[in-house]
Amino acid sequence: MTAGSDTKRVGATGTAPGKIILLGEHAVVYGRPAIAVPVTRLQATAHVVPLPAGTGTWIRAVDLGRYYRLHQAPADDPLAHAVRIAWRAFGNSGEPDLEIVIHSTIPIAGGLGSGAAVATAVVRALAVYLGRSVSPEEVSALVYETEKLLHGTPSGIDNTVVAYERPIWFRRGTPPEPFEPGTCFHLLIADTGVSSPTRDTVAAVRAAWQAEPDHYETLFDRIGTLVARGRAAMMSGSPARLGTLLDENQELLRQLGVSSPEIEQLLGPAKSAGALGAKLSGGGRGGNIIVLVEPARLEAVRRAMQQAGAVRVVETVLAPSSRRDQSS
Ligand code: PMV
Repeated sequence: MTAGSDTKRVGATGTAPGKIILLGEHAVVYGRPAIAVPVTRLQATAHVVPLPAGTGTWIRAVDLGRYYRLHQAPADDPLAHAVRIAWRAFGNSGEPDLEIVIHSTIPIAGGLGSGAAVATAVVRALAVYLGRSVSPEEVSALVYETEKLLHGTPSGIDNTVVAYERPIWFRRGTPPEPFEPGTCFHLLIADTGVSSPTRDTVAAVRAAWQAEPDHYETLFDRIGTLVARGRAAMMSGSPARLGTLLDENQELLRQLGVSSPEIEQLLGPAKSAGALGAKLSGGGRGGNIIVLVEPARLEAVRRAMQQAGAVRVVETVLAPSSRRDQSS
């Protein structure tokens, strides 16, 4: 993956992690802060391979079993959108002669940021191919354009955390603030198996907020307050305090109407098996839950959720940069 003309000849690769929202989803759409963290064990990868002149651009989405030409992609195709936006932003016109091969281990529509990660991988691969260096800020801004296509009115949190690859304090309209956890926080991410498009849950919360604005603004304020306490608990290295805040956030998400029987079915056993705290993550009404666990309880909590019907459980560690080799 060297830059310049060699890269152009042999092709280039870009990668990006998955993500979870630790605290603050939905309220973040209404200007409150939220915290999101990368999940490096889940990855999207894009390879850019040069094709003979006049061949045009072909996109191979391996996990979706799709192989298609850029100019034949539907107008709302996020991969095609990412390619076009990045190609133009990097100062080019027309259609390049390239094959763009995309792999991802991030489940789709599960609140794990697969759309943002795939678009980020594409943007990074094209940047490497063209010998351009791009800042996290630039990548985030380009990927936000594809997020709008997928989610309607995204807050921008997904593209931000995926582009920065660090825990992020995020508030709409202000620069994101990466921060350092004060100790290792062990998380299990468990999949309900129910796919739930973020666009739908965001629209449902919007309709409820329009019907009862004062009530929902109060809930958003309460979520914003606990997000601030969450950052303090993370920076000072207090898993027990963060666990309590996850539980409190889940209660407020129930009141927003975005929990579901499948989510509750995993949360109860996780808590009974000794989790410090647990909540849905992302849009809700399906998707994934996140569970904060002390290392000694990890296996018991994982088993409890598998027995309760979790279709997949992934472990991730939020580690201070000095101990980053332990995270995965
Ligand atoms: O479902 P996810 O992980 O893409 O997260 C959605 C988060 C929301 O706050 C519900 C929407 C948003 O755009 O921030």
